[in-house]
Amino acid sequence: MSAPANAPSKAPSKAIVLSEIGQLLTLAEGPDAARGGAAQGELGLREGAAVVIRDGTISWVGPSGGIGDAVAGVDEVEVHDCRGKVVLPGLVDSHTHLVWGGDRRDELELRLGGADYEAIFASGGGILSSVRQTRALGEDELHRASLRRALRMRATGTTTFEIKSGYGLDLETELRQLRVARRLGDADGLRVRTTCLAAHALPAEDRGAEGGRERFLDRVCAEILPAVVAEGLADFCDVFCDRGAFTPEESRRVLLRARELGLGLRVHANELGSTGGALLAAELGAASADHLLYLGDDERQALLAAGTVATLLPGTSLVLGKPYADGRALIEAGVPVAVASDCNPGSCALESLALVLALACYGCRLSPPEAICAVTHNAAASLGLAGDVGRIAPGMAADLLLLATDDYRDLVYHAGSPLIAAVFQGGARVV
Ligand code: NIG
Ligand code: FE
Repeated sequence: MSAPANAPSKAPSKAIVLSEIGQLLTLAEGPDAARGGAAQGELGLREGAAVVIRDGTISWVGPSGGIGDAVAGVDEVEVHDCRGKVVLPGLVDSHTHLVWGGDRRDELELRLGGADYEAIFASGGGILSSVRQTRALGEDELHRASLRRALRMRATGTTTFEIKSGYGLDLETELRQLRVARRLGDADGLRVRTTCLAAHALPAEDRGAEGGRERFLDRVCAEILPAVVAEGLADFCDVFCDRGAFTPEESRRVLLRARELGLGLRVHANELGSTGGALLAAELGAASADHLLYLGDDERQALLAAGTVATLLPGTSLVLGKPYADGRALIEAGVPVAVASDCNPGSCALESLALVLALACYGCRLSPPEAICAVTHNAAASLGLAGDVGRIAPGMAADLLLLATDDYRDLVYHAGSPLIAAVFQGGARVV
C-alpha cells in the first residue's frame, strides 16, 4: 500500500557499524556494581566482533558475520572497518575540578623550586588563589574556559565527567560553578555529573576570625547546600577531609546534611595523612573515597564492607611529588578501584585520563586490564551511571573510543602517544 501523497515523510533510519574490530573491550560480563578483586581484571575481550549503534545507543554486539541481520531494514548504514584497531568504552573521569578561573602556573614553578603544596595553601595561596580568580569571573567567561579544557579532555578519550565546585566557597560562586558544569552537560553534549564541594577550604573571610569555622560550616549546611539542591545543580556532595582542611567531625556534619537533602556522597580522603577521611567515607557508605595515599588494612576493610569505591588520582602524586596510592593492596583486599584525573588548577592540571590510566599502572601497580576497568565501568558505577556508560553492550550509550593500535595494552606501553583515532559520544563522532 502506498502512503498518501501529502503524508509527512519519515526520517530515514540510520545505523553506524564498527566491524571486524581487532580487539573489542566490552567489560560486559560481570556485575553491574563496581568490580573488585579478580573481577576488576575481566575486560570481556572479543576479537573480530562488531558493534551496531542506533539513535545514540549501542543496539547490537556480536560476530561481524551477523551484521546483516542486525541492520536489516535500516535505510542508511555507515560501516567503519576496524581491523587492527581497538574499541573500548569512552573514559569516565569520576573526579575533576574542571570549572575554575585563572591559573596557578606561577605556583607550579614555586613548587618545582621546592616550595611545599601545603605551606602555599596555609599562607593563603593554593586553593584560595583559585577562589579569588574564580569569584572574579562571570558565568560565560567561566563556561568558556571550562569548555576549552573539557574538549581537550574529550580529545584524549574522556566522554563522561564528574565536575566539582569548590572554588567559590560562597553561595553565589558555588552556584555559578555548578551552573557552568550543568551547562557543559545540557548544552555542550558532554556527559556530566556534578558535585558540590563547598567544604573544600575555609574561605579567607572566615580565617582568623573567632568562630569563623563554625560560621562557614553553618553557611554550607543551612544556605549553600539547600540552594544547590533547590536548583537541582548537584548529584553529589564532597568534602576535603584532611590535614589543613576539615576534620572528620566537621566533614561528617556537612555530609550528613547533604545526605538529608538527597545527595550522594564522595570524600577527599587520606591525601595528606591518615586523618580519618577514609573511615568516615566507609561509615557513611559514601559512593567514593578519593586519593587514599595513606591507607591501612583496617581502612581497606572498612571501604570493602561499605561498598565504597576507592578512587585513585595518581596524576596528583606525580605533580606534587607524593607517594602513589597502593592500588595493588586495594585490589588484593577486593576493594573496587576507580582512577580519575583530579584535573584542577593546582595539585594536578593533567587533562588526559588516558595518561593517568598509565600512571595507575606504573605508580599504583594496577595491571592494564584493572586500570581500564578503573576508568570505565568502576568509575561509572561510582557515579551511579553503570547502566548508561562504561561497558559495551546493547542498551548502553554509544560513548566509544577507537584506538589506532591492535593491542589495548599500548595505552600503558606507549602512554602519552596519540593512539585515539576516534571518539564517539552518544553515537556521534566528535573527534
Ligand atoms: O583534589 N585536595 C584537595 N583538592 C584538590 C586540589 C585543589 C587545588 O589545589 O586547587 C585535589 O587535589
Ligand atoms: Fe580533588
